[in-house]
Amino acid sequence: MYRLGIIGYGGMGGWHAKSLLEMPDEFELVGIYDINPAKIEAAREKGIKGFDSLDEILAEESIQAVIIATPNNFHKELSIKALEAGKHVICEKPVMMNSEELIEVIEVSKKTGRQFSVHQNRRWDKDFRMVKKTIDDGVIGTPFYIESRVQGSKGIPGDWRCVKEAGGGMLLDWGVHLIDQIMWMVDSPVTEVYTHMLSVKFPGVDDNFKLLLRFANGMSALVEVDTYTFINLPRWHVSGDEGTLQVDSFACDGSIVRANTVEMKWEEGIVYTAAGPTRTMAPRPEETIERLELPELETDAKDYYRNFMDATEGKQKLMVTPDQALRVMRVIDTVFESAETGSCIKVNI
Ligand SMILES: NC(=O)c1ccc[n+]([C@@H]2O[C@H](COP(=O)([O-])OP(=O)(O)OC[C@H]3O[C@@H](n4cnc5c(N)ncnc54)[C@H](O)[C@@H]3O)[C@@H](O)[C@H]2O)c1
Repeated sequence: MYRLGIIGYGGMGGWHAKSLLEMPDEFELVGIYDINPAKIEAAREKGIKGFDSLDEILAEESIQAVIIATPNNFHKELSIKALEAGKHVICEKPVMMNSEELIEVIEVSKKTGRQFSVHQNRRWDKDFRMVKKTIDDGVIGTPFYIESRVQGSKGIPGDWRCVKEAGGGMLLDWGVHLIDQIMWMVDSPVTEVYTHMLSVKFPGVDDNFKLLLRFANGMSALVEVDTYTFINLPRWHVSGDEGTLQVDSFACDGSIVRANTVEMKWEEGIVYTAAGPTRTMAPRPEETIERLELPELETDAKDYYRNFMDATEGKQKLMVTPDQALRVMRVIDTVFESAETGSCIKVNI
């Protein structure tokens, strides 16, 4: 039985509590702490122990690890306090406000010998795993361009997410998930970062961005987060040198189309199409392609907690490591720099 506490019992703290309570044979939720007494009361009403202060929850000896689920600007201070109190730490994403903060926390983690990880739960998203598996299995050949985007139409919830100083904005929210997914999937250093960032409806924070990443292996990726679109583009669109993969939405519908072994022959002379005369953009003959279903697979985001627990006990390698988090944070720092300077920035991350 692995015993955890939660610091910050808002939306995500509540989600963590629910998840842990659904695994009673593996995990025990010892209790929660929140700076807002009403949240502590809400936990107690659900039969969850509420600690009245940060010191009290950190002094609780039975707690082996804490989950930090507060607004982003408190992650550093709370992580350091928890590590120094001898707890292993799962910090919500974005792990910190920038890479400088993370370097400090990693130092404390090394000094105290306590494990530190980030809750990058979207590595377990089914749509993402379908893309990763299709690429890993070589179904579309060598990938050269990945588009990963999420689009909503409701703007940003009107809380700390609209406040820059609290770590608001979409780059530190969904952006960090999408960048982490791509960097975990593409085994190559990032060499270029170029960003267009907008504040369409929410002054002071980014509520819309497009980001182009180039990798040392020649691949490039577009990462896009948009909060004000009423007709969505596909969640994923991946081009490989033998085919194309599309996942339309989180519902995981979509398809794979790839070249088959029938040789493509160009038509003689001009071809008349709906777009007028063009040979290049005329449809490919149907007999030269094959259409495949997306791979069937199951994922379980609760494996994040299981891996964290096993890694603290030396039974498995940690899946979301501080080094990976630091690479992601360095890219994020560069994304902000690119947006501010309007330039493409060369890096080796
Ligand atoms: N991994 C995911 O899928 C995911 C999803 C949503 C949010 N998050 C992350 O979780 C964190 C919390 O987001 P949320 O949506 O739950 O926000 P929220 O506003 O719903 O909850 C935050 C809670 O933290 C409490 N709090 C604030 N400062 C505190 C402090 N110093 N000490 C203790 N408690 C404090 C607040 O009172 C509130 O109850 C953020 O870092 C966010 O990015 C992750």
